[in-house]
Amino acid sequence: MIALGCDHGGFDLMQEVKKHLEERGLEYKDYGTYSKESCDYPVYGKAVANAIVSGECDKGILICGTGIGISIAANKVKGIRAAVVSDTFSAQATREHNDANIIAFGGRVVGVGLALKIVDTFLDTPFSNGERHKKRIAQIED
Ligand code: RB5
Repeated sequence: MIALGCDHGGFDLMQEVKKHLEERGLEYKDYGTYSKESCDYPVYGKAVANAIVSGECDKGILICGTGIGISIAANKVKGIRAAVVSDTFSAQATREHNDANIIAFGGRVVGVGLALKIVDTFLDTPFSNGERHKKRIAQIED
């Protein structure tokens, strides 16, 4: 199950992400926001982060204007590794090296085509399971 969260700056792009996940037959849970009305991104970053650490969802996708504020909020929750990316190389690397459990990007930064490639790369790339990466992730958790 994939947890989704956005603010007004990411709302339009999130509708495209949802359509894409549906086309792929992937299940998601939408934690809002549910309109383009101005709102506070920490609320949605926290909701998605909590959904992951509670085990309700496996991975999350967050979108605000830049992807930055909402990822900073999510990363305050222990166990969350949210990565802001604007390219597919980083999306792949953050799965392989950081075992990122949330991908974040900016609705005012990336276009729909690139955003969907980032989503696919994030969802389809496994953690490398390398010892050096596991050690570093454990250091982050500590
Ligand atoms: C909202 O205007 C904007 O600040 C927000 O979407 C995000 O970009 C914050 O990091």
